[in-house]
Amino acid sequence: MYVAKRSLLLIGETELQCRPMARNLRLLCPVETRALRTSASLPAVVPDAVIVSGVAFTQSGSLGDVQKALRPFLDSNVPILCLLDNPSARDDVQARALGASAVLAADTPLRRVADVLHTLTRRGGGLRRTERTVAVEAAVADVGVAIADLMASAASKQTIGVGMTAEASRLLLDTIRDNDVGRWMETVSEVHDQSYRHCLLMAGIMAAFVVSLGFKPDDCDRLTRAAILHDVGKALVPTEILNKPGPLTDAEMDQMRQHPSAGYELLLAQGDHHRTTLRVARHHHEYLDGSGYPLGLKGDQIGDEVRIATICDVFTALIEKRSYKPSLTALQAAELMAPMRGKLDPDLLRLFSRLFVAEDAAVDA
Ligand SMILES: [Fe+2]
Ligand SMILES: [Fe+2]
Repeated sequence: MYVAKRSLLLIGETELQCRPMARNLRLLCPVETRALRTSASLPAVVPDAVIVSGVAFTQSGSLGDVQKALRPFLDSNVPILCLLDNPSARDDVQARALGASAVLAADTPLRRVADVLHTLTRRGGGLRRTERTVAVEAAVADVGVAIADLMASAASKQTIGVGMTAEASRLLLDTIRDNDVGRWMETVSEVHDQSYRHCLLMAGIMAAFVVSLGFKPDDCDRLTRAAILHDVGKALVPTEILNKPGPLTDAEMDQMRQHPSAGYELLLAQGDHHRTTLRVARHHHEYLDGSGYPLGLKGDQIGDEVRIATICDVFTALIEKRSYKPSLTALQAAELMAPMRGKLDPDLLRLFSRLFVAEDAAVDA
């Protein structure tokens, strides 16, 4: 997974036009954006690379503007990547004449963009990237983009694609079956955006858990799809609350706690999501002793698929790093969850701990 030491600078025709590309790139690392004809000052810190995206090189006016925008970076040898809509050979030559180190089509998959950035910035030159690592990085990038798209659809109350969820689930399960979940967790930990990182991590952990439980392929798929969309309701929570770098106030916590019901309502209204997805989205914060939310369900009111999701979600939150808390190892998280047997299903928790404690020990060995 490409990780910037500092950040990337994305230059486009307008700030608005930069947004979709910036959103995808933020799965990899911090990104600053600039409109082409802006008077905004250069970033305080020299970026690792500059990306020019969606600029029409055929318009002579744009060429001059691009040249002007890139000049400061040419002097300091910052690599420049141009992403162009259907680049012709002429566009390619023109971009390189302006100082571009590489030119790619704007619809190039994120994993390929990450690879090119990796090469251009020479980061990780000393790292051994095995074929398996590259395959997991590619899958994390693809599933990450799918989750970003699904969350964006939810935020604008558009259709949350069942097909896209199914494709992400298939890719995730294939990757988990071919690689150990530790590799998935390690790769996802480098995803920059906190909310997509949580969904990627939780879904990978849940996929690994259900595969380890010996569920049939269709059931693994059903549960992995539910995991991918479990926090879809967070797309409707204000980003200031979601990304707040510290503990939430009571009022903010109330808003945050709306996300299971909000996600459920949204998925229900669309009519074509499986009932497992609906149940997991609605109930993944319920605890067996009735202390959870939103409904305070107890014991038998909570089905097995939700019990599985809750264990995976609690574990994910514990091992994640957040600005206000350190991350725990799998072993520490499992130890912390052990006294939660009144809240979490004890049999499933035992099976889960066995799987991940073994992972942790294997990683540490
Ligand atoms: Fe949640
Ligand atoms: Fe969650």
